[in-house]
Amino acid sequence: MTPDLVALREQINLALDHHLPKTSSIAQPVTDAMRHAVLGGGKRVRPMLVCGAADAVGAGITGALPIGCALEFIHAYSLIHDDLPAMDDDDIRHGLPSAHIKYGEANAILAGDSLHSLAFQTIAAAPGYSSTTRLKMIELLAQAAGWAGMAGGQCLDIEAEGRELGLAELQALHGAKTGALIRVSVQLGALCAQPEEISEEQFLLLSEFGDRVGLAFQVMDDVLDVTQTTERLGKPAGSDEALDKNTFPKLMGTEQAKDLAFTLIDEAQALLTRTRLDSGILSNIAHLVVERDH
Ligand code: IPE
Ligand code: IPE
Ligand code: MG
Ligand code: MG
Ligand code: MG
Repeated sequence: MTPDLVALREQINLALDHHLPKTSSIAQPVTDAMRHAVLGGGKRVRPMLVCGAADAVGAGITGALPIGCALEFIHAYSLIHDDLPAMDDDDIRHGLPSAHIKYGEANAILAGDSLHSLAFQTIAAAPGYSSTTRLKMIELLAQAAGWAGMAGGQCLDIEAEGRELGLAELQALHGAKTGALIRVSVQLGALCAQPEEISEEQFLLLSEFGDRVGLAFQVMDDVLDVTQTTERLGKPAGSDEALDKNTFPKLMGTEQAKDLAFTLIDEAQALLTRTRLDSGILSNIAHLVVERDH
């Protein structure tokens, strides 16, 4: 990882700690589970994309941090629920016991619910943006997280276990369950700019960049599930095969899936160039998405 991304991740970790509740007089196990799920680990790709896009549009990183935290809260909630027995039934996350193993299923579900709420609360209270901007951010994030985005994709992912999807369906599945949150990370970062600082065309190009990165991200997640160890991943390797999931390696072979991810990232980099923005951080994140080993 490049030094600028290492430093950015450090800033993000501090901001996450700051925005998470530390105690609760009525629900300490839930706030403990929230902190465990968020601070237990994670590459912070989504908040890095928010901050990278904000930097590209000249908005600065500090003001984008609360928006990045909101993305990570939604992401962490999605992982808590993804690991539950009713979904992927995985006991390890970030090399630690999954939230439901450590805190029990009920508290894990409630911690997911609470992180979902905290995400919107954090955007609503983010300083430095007009209410119109904050409302737009909330609307886009709600769309990306809900039935037409992440939650919808998770539904199809579960419903299609043991049934073979074609390429177009699998792309739609991955685009929804993972792509939607990654695309909206870039969009919310772009919205950190003053409206006159970025053109409609640049916003669309950045959104398309997010689409490519989002699909490449889940393709690589599928590849790593078959090529890496549980120790390196910090989550159970081979989980997809065990659940008979639809994945890109299963559909086209592992090498072809990897090639597809690299092609998508090449396309993403070309889209960035077309924005004519100073987008070094975004470019480094796109590179990381396919070069990572966990
Ligand atoms: C894992 O996401 C789940 C997917 C959507 C593929 P990440 O690989 O970003 O998870 P962490 O936060 O870095 O652990
Ligand atoms: C999860 O995809 C996508 C989410 C929306 C959480 P996976 O089920 O492949 O994620 P991992 O491999 O468990 O992290
Ligand atoms: Mg899953
Ligand atoms: Mg899973
Ligand atoms: Mg996976």
